[in-house]
Amino acid sequence: MRITPLTAHIGAAVEDVDITAPLDETTRTSLRAALCRRAVLVFRNQALTDAQQVTFTKALGPLEPTIPSDPIGDGGPIGVLTNIDAEGHIIPPDDKRVLYAVANTLWHSDGAFRRVPLRGSVLAAKVIPPTGGDTEFASLTAPYALLPAARKTEIADLAVEHSMAHSRAQIAPDLMSEEFLNATPPVVHPLVRTVAETGERALLVGSYAGKIIGWPSEKGAELLRELLEWCTQPQFVYCHRWRTDDLLVYDNRCCLHRGRAWDRAAHARVLHRTTLAGDDSLKAQCPSSP
Ligand code: SIN
Repeated sequence: MRITPLTAHIGAAVEDVDITAPLDETTRTSLRAALCRRAVLVFRNQALTDAQQVTFTKALGPLEPTIPSDPIGDGGPIGVLTNIDAEGHIIPPDDKRVLYAVANTLWHSDGAFRRVPLRGSVLAAKVIPPTGGDTEFASLTAPYALLPAARKTEIADLAVEHSMAHSRAQIAPDLMSEEFLNATPPVVHPLVRTVAETGERALLVGSYAGKIIGWPSEKGAELLRELLEWCTQPQFVYCHRWRTDDLLVYDNRCCLHRGRAWDRAAHARVLHRTTLAGDDSLKAQCPSSP
């Protein structure tokens, strides 16, 4: 297996490995280590069935199922990101199901709105539009390391409220069902967290982050905006141009991501997502955790 960096700060291509087959312990250990160091791993030409994707995900850590009331899942292991309906037709771009998914074009870390955020995600490309629909990834560790010392001191103990509702409200009102709103109340996480395996510090910002606890709302929103802009500067970003049968693994602690636009009225785009469970260590890092 060869692991080759794709940019200075983020991303690595993984070649000469067949992830449709069970992985030995050496390979699993190397992949887990590369994931924390590079944040995004790119595998090409891996035509996995859903069952193989689940097995591969479990080889990297405990799997976290989808939330039953989440429109992309039914409580099972696979989340389907699609603009195709059950009859195979393209869903109109102004349909609520599509607008809900448009929130994925905002920079975010999957599952940051959960009490225990997701550790990682695995995204497999099933149908890809002829142009557009890339996914961009931005490091959260390199930008933290390069912050001025005074800024690091200022933000060291801050806590942030995250919610699914805050993300979806940026796209349109009423995108969430009552059931899903009730299943995803706001949560509080530290603004700066430590990645256990590497000891690196990472910013926890993105579209779910709404308020800094104890700060006036406009001042908090301004700081969150500023940090998001800092993290998403071009030197910290890897842009993935999808091909069918690509599979990406990313560490949600170490990077943000966002899907890019494509002609949703004309072309299908279908990705299957599985997710890796986080652990409770984040709670202990949060000064204002309830
Ligand atoms: C996601 O946000 O999980 C998917 C991103 C994309 O659609 O490219």
